[in-house]
Order: sequence, then structure tokens, then C-alpha cells
Amino acid sequence: MLPPASARWETLLAVFAGVAGSAGYGLLITPTFEDLAVFQRVGASTDVVRKEMYDFEDKGGRRIALRPEITASVVRAYIEHRPTSPWKIWYAGSNFRFERPQAGRYREFHQVGIEAFGTADADLDVEVVALGREYYAALGLRRVELLLNSLGDAACRPAYRKLLLDYLVERRDELCDEHRERLEDNPLRALDCKRPECREATAGAPRQLDHLCDDCRAHFGRARAGLDALGIPYRIDTSLVRGLDYYTRTTFEYTGLALAGAQNALGGGGRYDGLVEEMGGPPTPGIGFALGLERILLALDAEDVGAATSGSLDAYVVDFAGGEAARDLTTALRRAGLRADRSFDGRSAKSQFKAADRSGAALALVVGPDEAAAATVAIKDLRHPADQVTVGRDVVVAEVRRRVLSSSPGETPSGDTFHAVGGAR
Ligand code: HAM
Repeated sequence: MLPPASARWETLLAVFAGVAGSAGYGLLITPTFEDLAVFQRVGASTDVVRKEMYDFEDKGGRRIALRPEITASVVRAYIEHRPTSPWKIWYAGSNFRFERPQAGRYREFHQVGIEAFGTADADLDVEVVALGREYYAALGLRRVELLLNSLGDAACRPAYRKLLLDYLVERRDELCDEHRERLEDNPLRALDCKRPECREATAGAPRQLDHLCDDCRAHFGRARAGLDALGIPYRIDTSLVRGLDYYTRTTFEYTGLALAGAQNALGGGGRYDGLVEEMGGPPTPGIGFALGLERILLALDAEDVGAATSGSLDAYVVDFAGGEAARDLTTALRRAGLRADRSFDGRSAKSQFKAADRSGAALALVVGPDEAAAATVAIKDLRHPADQVTVGRDVVVAEVRRRVLSSSPGETPSGDTFHAVGGAR
């Protein structure tokens, strides 16, 4: 991903840091590869772990995997460092899954996400779900649907699983090849299968939501009431089981309605109240989500939001009087929090003006022999070329600053990119 298009990427990260930071989540950085076992624990019966993981033996004979997702690493870090609860963290990074690449599905892709440990309070579910939604809204996405389900817990899932298995065993022949073979491994996955034969065979299957224990029902009720109170619309989807093994209770997905078909999941997550213990830590509830950045870019394009612009510089210094002014002015501007660039190699004035135009800068600061002799700078508005003034070298930074502030109300020259997806302020 190259500039200027990559300016959107910067914005995706900056906005996410803002949204997560606004709710007390701190940044966690985990390694890109981990011991294979870290990931095997989270999905022994899932495609992500069984079929799609990049694992290998390193030169020390260790079994290593490139992370297919980040939650497992976060749990590993939690267990290793035992931070005080509640522990709320956010992350951003690449993931690797050996899948058939197509639009919106890549072998290396990037996620931002949050995870929160140490409380089973359903109000935290509301917070987490709301933050994901907040993020999409801050980016300007409008056509995002929230799907919600509850997968029960250790008290009610086993009985439901048996009920579902009994139902599906009778219809085994009607299932697609993959789910026929793997029925006993994980009967829930057939509910999520997009193939028509599975769709049909599972149409009347019992749903976890109708078989929740009292605690899970109350928990889901509280989560729903919270979303209702905050005015966050959602659709209950009883077939939402998600592609990893660790989920309990609240699970959710954000669907990009402007995206086509199979790759329309913009992000997803849920509770995983048993995972920390399963991975060797103390019993600790947890919940989180991960959102795919490549899919967000596709959704922004599909909704025609925030087309990248190249106008990200405040000033371009055109110096054809020796280059000292370019050296000193760009430094002074940058120290003042402004964005400035220049040409090198003593190019002609014409070629420097061309570069200034191409850079998308708002202003050209021009220093020719006359200005150099008089210690002045001509400020030329590149978007309104007739607008040109000459000021003293000692006030030029203040003048640029004044113009930048007055042309973008409410924003600061330090580059608050919070609400501009295009990279321009
Ligand atoms: P996931 O549903 O596997 O969940 O991935 C989350 C998001 O990552 C998807 O909704 C999608 O936007 C993006 N994504 C997944 N695979 C690809 C791919 N091959 N190419 C492009 N984008 C992709 C998780 O990863 C869980 N760790 C989420 C979570 C966090 N649950 C609890 N905490």
C-alpha cells in the first residue's frame, strides 16, 4: 500500500486508537509468531486453526505459527503478565491464514481489535459492541448491520450441543460433505454453513438462544437492554456461531451491507469466558472483537466515503536562491507542528513549482534571489494562485499557521486526523 492511498490506513489506525483510548483501552503489542500450541488451544475444530494456519519448525526445532488471529496471543500475554483486572487493551496488526485469496480475503490481512478481561458484567458487552460501532461511524460508514447472538455457557451449551447433534445426525445425508464428516467434531458449525444443502438441513434445527440457562438468558437480556438504551440497532441472528471455538454467551458480527456476499463480515467478536482458564490461567471472563482493515477500505469505497486526497502538506518551500531558506524554513515549520516539504538538488524554479503542485500542499513559500536578499518570503496560495503576499522571514511561520488554522476550522496544525478518512485535514 503506497502513499497517497496509504493515508487512509494511517487514519484507520489513528481513529481506532482514539476510539479505544476514549474508553480506557491501552495498546498491547504481541509477537507476530508464537508457539503453535497457543493457537491450537483456541480452535482445534476450526478451519482457521486446522487448515489455514501457517506453521513451521524453526531452526531451533520449535513448532511456530504465524498468528491467524490475535485474541489467543492476548490471552497468552494476560496469563503471563497477570495484570490487574479489569484489563482493557487494544491492538493492531497483521494476521495470516492460508485461504484462497479473493477480494476481501487475503493470506495476510490486518485487524484492529480490543479485548477486556476480568468481568462478566453484560454492560461490558454493551461497551465493547458499542465501541466497534462507534469506530465505523467515526470513519463515516453508514451501512453496517450489527448481528447478535448468544452461544450460552458451560452450563447450557453441552445439553444444547447434544440436542443439535441428535437433530443433525438424523439429517446427516442432507449436509454438505464437509459438515457431514465433521458433524461430531463441531455440530454448531453446520448452522453457519453457507451451502444450500446445509442451510436447508439446519433450517428447523434447535437454536441455542431457545435453550439458554437462566443466567445466560438474564445476561443476554441485560446486554440487549443496554444496546436498546444506547439506541444501537441490531438484528438477532440465531445462526451466528463464529469461526473460532472459544466463544460463550454474547457473540456478534458487523456486516458491511455495501459489500458483496461471502466477504461482507467487517468484523466480529464475542465473549470467551472459559478461554483464559483453558489456556492455563485463572478463571477469568473476557470479551473482545477484531475488525478487518482491508474490508473497511472496501466498505469505504463501496459507500463512497473519504476518497483519498493528496493535499496533506501545509506548505512546500520553493527555494531557487541556494537552498538555505528551504533547509531552515521546512525545519522551522515542522517544529511548529506544520507539514512541510521541499525539493533537493538545486532544481529550477519551474521544476520546484511543479513539485509543489504535485505535492498537494496548500501553500508555496517562495524564496528567489530578491526574497533572499530582503529576508522575505512570498506566500502563494496554490489553490487560488492570484492570492500572493510577501512577508518577512521572521513572521512567515506564524503567517502559515494562521492561514492553516483559518482554512480548516476547529482543527489544529498538529494533525488531528480523527474525522477525516482522506488523509487531508
Ligand atoms: P474473525 O471473525 O476470524 O475473528 O476475524 C475478524 C475479522 O477479520 C473478519 O470479520 C474480517 O473482517 C477480517 N478477516 C478475517 N479473515 C480475513 C482474511 N483472510 N482477509 C481479510 N480479512 C479477514 C477473529 O479474528 C477473532 N479474534 C475476533 C475476536 C476478538 N473475538 C474476540 N475477540
